[in-house]
Amino acid sequence: MLNAMSAATLPRRVIIDTDPGTDDALAIFLALNSPELKVEALTPVAGNVPLSLTLPNALRLLEIAGRTDIPVAAGADRPLARRLITATYAHGQNGLGGIQFPEPTTKPVAETATQLIRRLVHASPQEIGIIAIGPLTNIATAFREDPELPRLIPNLTIMGGSLSGGNISPAAEFNIYVDPEAAQIVFRSGVPLTMVGLDVTRRAMLREDDIQRMETSKKPEGRAAGKIARASMNQLRKNSATGGPAMHDSLAVGTFINPGVVTLESLFVDIETAGTLTAGETVGYRKAPMRSSPPLTNAPEATLSTEFKPNAKVALDVNVDRFLTMLVDRIAG
Ligand code: BDR
Ligand code: CA
Repeated sequence: MLNAMSAATLPRRVIIDTDPGTDDALAIFLALNSPELKVEALTPVAGNVPLSLTLPNALRLLEIAGRTDIPVAAGADRPLARRLITATYAHGQNGLGGIQFPEPTTKPVAETATQLIRRLVHASPQEIGIIAIGPLTNIATAFREDPELPRLIPNLTIMGGSLSGGNISPAAEFNIYVDPEAAQIVFRSGVPLTMVGLDVTRRAMLREDDIQRMETSKKPEGRAAGKIARASMNQLRKNSATGGPAMHDSLAVGTFINPGVVTLESLFVDIETAGTLTAGETVGYRKAPMRSSPPLTNAPEATLSTEFKPNAKVALDVNVDRFLTMLVDRIAG
């Protein structure tokens, strides 16, 4: 057991569950360049692109950053109950904006993502946090296999969800849309949850100067981040978008490091899984009574809780300058 003194000074141990992914790449580089964190593992999942690409991309990113000491364990290759929808329209066919980095020479470990997550967490209860920046398939699978797990994790910070409209459908944010059943398991699990969703991440956009600083960085991962960010910027311009690339996943990492970069509110959030137009919507309640839809004529009573029991801290505002300074200073060096 750590005593209070050493716990305050030691870096926090964290697993990053990810689907790299252009913004995942920068989030991983941010974590690797943050002295407050000790990255214990990467657990790739299918999302932005299939697992056959997110897995080698995770290995590639660690090789670029010279951190091949960090294990990579393969996660789920499809959502729990649905066909995989990818986001190559934003991340390119290879998931890294079309930038061709060398083939990785390292290999994933033999354990699966859920085996590795369960082993690390059980070996050090209440010491290993998780930052999940892709669909929640791996985390939900681990929780389903091992119902004790949520109580052993001090914090799970996710990039996902939105209380202000989606980005892949009018209702849903991409990570939750891809695997709503997994998200529902996680939000109902009792794990201490921080939700960093589109409400804040769509405001955290890189500026031209930030990209130039990364492109001219002395660090290999700084320059790789610059190339990826430039590809994202070019893609946005092709689509006539005016802002810069949104640093969705990096803001989740930034929030885990320093929750002061955002404003958090305790809410009860549940996931819509039944809707034909709204699956993956994160529905946030700020107070009781917490009502669901009215029952059909012959169905039982609608679920109604008269008690307000928050299950997540939700980021509703962000200090964009403070966050971008942290991100670019650390990645570009
Ligand atoms: C999220 O979806 C993915 O495309 C990004 O990597 C990020 O995790 C944003 O909605
Ligand atoms: Ca992601």
